[in-house]
Amino acid sequence: MTVQLVFCSNCACLESAFCAMLRQMQQTYPDQIGVVELDCMAACDMAPAVLIDGAYYPGISPADLQTQIEQRVGAELADVPA
Ligand code: FES
Repeated sequence: MTVQLVFCSNCACLESAFCAMLRQMQQTYPDQIGVVELDCMAACDMAPAVLIDGAYYPGISPADLQTQIEQRVGAELADVPA
């Protein structure tokens, strides 16, 4: 199972630090993160906004994005049998 991220690339990537962190997370966890980029997710005034496993995070900072992803990936990796 992967961590599912949904975001609007039109708004989120105007915040270059958000997209830089997202790309960094994709490179770090290529098999643990699934990304859906939308043209609009009806959060234009709350950008960058992201859905992480269905939970809505409006105005998320790059640091909070990293934290949310790493917590979920870490929990999933901990569930994988050795
Ligand atoms: S155009 Fe980006 S959320 Fe609407």
